[in-house]
Amino acid sequence: MNDKFSSLWLDYKPLFPGFTGRAAIRCPSRVDRQGAAVSELITALKAMLPAAELTFGADSAGLIFELDIGDFLDVEEYMISADERGAAVIGGSERGLMYGVFAYLREIRTAGSLVRMNKRVRPALGLRMLDHWDNADGTVERGYSGSSFFFREGKLVVDERTEMYARLIASAGINAAAINNVNVRGDAVRLIAEENLPGLARLSELFSRWGIALYLSIDFSAPISVGGMRTADPLDPAVGYWWSNKARELWKAAPGLGGFLVKADSEGQPGPYAYGRDHADGANMLARAVKPFGGRIIWRAFVYNCTQDWRDERTDRACAGYRTFAPLDGHFDANVILQVKNGPMDFQVREPVHPLFGAMRHTALAAEFQLAQEYTGQQLHVCCLLPMFREILMWNTACDIQPGRVIDRIQAAAAVANTGDSFCWTGSELAGANLYGFGRLTFEPQLTAEDIIDEWISLTFGSSERVREALLQILLGSHRAYEGYTAPLGLGWLCKPGTHYGPDPWGYEFDRWGTYNRADREAVGVDRSRTGYTSLYPEPLRELYSDPEKCPDELLLFFCRVKYTHVLHSGKTVIQHIYDSHFDGYAEAEEFARLWDSIESELDPAVYDNGRRRFKEQLRSAGEWRDVINAFFHRLSGVPDEQGRKLY
Ligand code: GCU
Repeated sequence: MNDKFSSLWLDYKPLFPGFTGRAAIRCPSRVDRQGAAVSELITALKAMLPAAELTFGADSAGLIFELDIGDFLDVEEYMISADERGAAVIGGSERGLMYGVFAYLREIRTAGSLVRMNKRVRPALGLRMLDHWDNADGTVERGYSGSSFFFREGKLVVDERTEMYARLIASAGINAAAINNVNVRGDAVRLIAEENLPGLARLSELFSRWGIALYLSIDFSAPISVGGMRTADPLDPAVGYWWSNKARELWKAAPGLGGFLVKADSEGQPGPYAYGRDHADGANMLARAVKPFGGRIIWRAFVYNCTQDWRDERTDRACAGYRTFAPLDGHFDANVILQVKNGPMDFQVREPVHPLFGAMRHTALAAEFQLAQEYTGQQLHVCCLLPMFREILMWNTACDIQPGRVIDRIQAAAAVANTGDSFCWTGSELAGANLYGFGRLTFEPQLTAEDIIDEWISLTFGSSERVREALLQILLGSHRAYEGYTAPLGLGWLCKPGTHYGPDPWGYEFDRWGTYNRADREAVGVDRSRTGYTSLYPEPLRELYSDPEKCPDELLLFFCRVKYTHVLHSGKTVIQHIYDSHFDGYAEAEEFARLWDSIESELDPAVYDNGRRRFKEQLRSAGEWRDVINAFFHRLSGVPDEQGRKLY
């Protein structure tokens, strides 16, 4: 333990302090004794069996931990068989073995004893990635956890914190990380320039040891900004040649590179449109440059018109990603992955699942989630996103390829990271569940959100049953509560523009971002049958979403424009639901704060205090949301609250 950063769920505590016998690690020479798997096992055993005599080799007395590599397993697959005398862990490679060791350690730590088990696990998705929105100057876009630990004053930093980061995310099952913001600005533009090669080499070597591929967000116009050329036209052979040389130089220095992440033609970022080319032209040019090195291009589908006129009711931002990319299905090279945000807008507390997941049949896809709680309370409010992520992964796209759940249609998952240089990495201790859980969920999506949260609580907070019950209740209820006191029924965008924190129901209404609620005296919501959006889904979803009588309550105002007096499936009117959910959501937040206080004596004082301050702010802010949103709709609609509560 040090005073700069916590080891979070890897803080190994003595499991058998009284065990004074021998513990032997055995492995054949094909296992790397300096590798991550062996080194993690040693670290853990030393801490968990502080009085044991730890040896290497054939000693048969005492506990025995055998590690091996078996090529009958996939590269990231592992097998564990264990009992009270120790364990045998086999991986398909060093990486698989490392995942097996982490899994075994997880099992015995959550059980509190050596366990009898047999397990064979292979990750569901090949690429499980974190996208950091860190800028070279050390700031983090939509970062709520302090400054960047990858960059300081324009320079890459590789230190003991980087090593801890790699261990933490590897233990959660994550195998790739893009370290810089998709909005590539300032010194980050030159991250791929020659002067940064030594730093990238060090970082990629460190990452590789923990099975993590290093990705870089690149400026699509780098041939101009870095290369001094006059064009970045993807079809200009000189541009392709520049990128090929750049890729060779980068992979030579940093062979652990995974590839590039690209935000193009979106919110001011350069892209192929400037040259009259399409997104397949742009992505494929880069894909060909990185292909010889096994590299990939992660190309974002977050492309829309951000200079819209609010009076134009036909242009719908929700349609933009689909309309841009669906016609290009089948045009992308095999090493391009199209990264699609989970919903068609932008990480709102509730959105329908993006229609591209069902539509793209011949394109590799990544689902993009956001751990940074940009629109979900910025880590000041507790908002555990895992139940929502899992629901999305398991959602059936209704496309005519079977199986058709999102998890079956994608090859990768990425999440905008919620980390920074705060002591607990995520600003709020409770936000660590999102970071840990994203990795676990994308490795083993058959786990429920509750399984994962439970496991995280035990690894992070220990075995107290009171703590476990309180935190489970807080975390499992937190998303519903947040949705209730902010923007219920799928409405979205009631937040303050710019900061995206706190209520401002008309803040985005007359703006250029395509983010409208269309509330007037009679009705509220966006008629997305009129805009053509519902037609982007196959039947039966199209009909379900088009018909206000059938549309699920939680998405009603996303898809339909209805009167305040419209009766929901729940039996309540829309307006009464808005009032009630704001009062109920606030009451749930009060209960979370009370639960946190009830476990004070079992928490580290600094952890308790950090949480208490955040719950205080959550309650202040939730009260503001409740009163501003209720007053807004009450004043517009004139409909009183059935329960006669004060609506201001
Ligand atoms: C949101 C967010 C931006 C970010 C963008 C993106 O719009 O507010 O800060 O750049 O998403 O995903 O690229």
